[in-house]
Amino acid sequence: NREFILSPSLLSSDFGRLAEELKALEEAQLKWVHWDVMDGNFVPNITLGAPIIKALRKNSSLFFDVHLMIEQPERYLEDFAKAGADLICVHAEATHHLERTVSEISRLGAKCAVALNPATPLSAIEYLIPQLDMVLIMSVNPGFGGQKFIPFSMQKIRELSALRNVLNPNMLIQVDGGCTPENTPELVEAGADVLVSGSAFFGFPPYAERHQTFLKAAGA
Ligand code: DX5
Ligand code: ZN
Repeated sequence: NREFILSPSLLSSDFGRLAEELKALEEAQLKWVHWDVMDGNFVPNITLGAPIIKALRKNSSLFFDVHLMIEQPERYLEDFAKAGADLICVHAEATHHLERTVSEISRLGAKCAVALNPATPLSAIEYLIPQLDMVLIMSVNPGFGGQKFIPFSMQKIRELSALRNVLNPNMLIQVDGGCTPENTPELVEAGADVLVSGSAFFGFPPYAERHQTFLKAAGA
C-alpha cells in the first residue's frame, strides 16, 4: 500500500517569493515540491533552470521533484543532480535514447522518472518500467498551468497501474495537469500515488488547509 503524496507545482506560486513559498509548504506539512523546468522549445514557455533550484535547495528539506520539459535533457542531467534534485523526470518525447538517459539519472544518484504527453502511448516506456522509480502521466499538454484535465488520461492511469502491479509494484504513478480535490478520489482509485497541483493548490490558501482537503479527497 503506497502512501498518497501531493506535489504542489511552483509554476502557480509567486516566483518573486520562492524562498518564502517553499518555507510555507514545509510549514503546511507538504513533503514534495514540483519544479516545472521549461525551455521554450519542447514546450511554448520558459520558466527556470538548475541555478534557481540550487539557490533554493540550501534552505529547504522538501523532496525536490524536478519535471524537465526540455529537448535533449541528457545535456543537463548532471547540472540538475548537482543542484539538488531528488527526482529527475524526463519526457519520453524529448530524447532519442531514453534507456541511456534514465540510467544516467540513476547513476547520478537521483530517483528517475519518465513523463508521457497525453498522446504518447504507454508502450513507449513499457520495457523501462522495471528500472523506473516513477512514471508521470501528463493529463494536459505541458507548457502552462490552469488547463483542463483531459478525460482519457484516467484510462491511461488504470492501464499503467495494471502494468506496474506486474512489472514493478514499487514504481510510483504521478499525474500532472488539471488535478483538483474533485477528481482526486477517481485518480487515486485508478492508481495514482502522486498528484501534482498548481492552480488548484496555490489559488486556495491557506496551504495547510488545502493540503488537508487533497489528503481527505484521497482517503489518506
Ligand atoms: C504543465 C506543468 C504542470 C502545471 C500544472 O505544463 O507540467 O506541473 O503546473 O498546473 P495545474 O495544476 O494548474 O494544471
Ligand atoms: Zn509539471
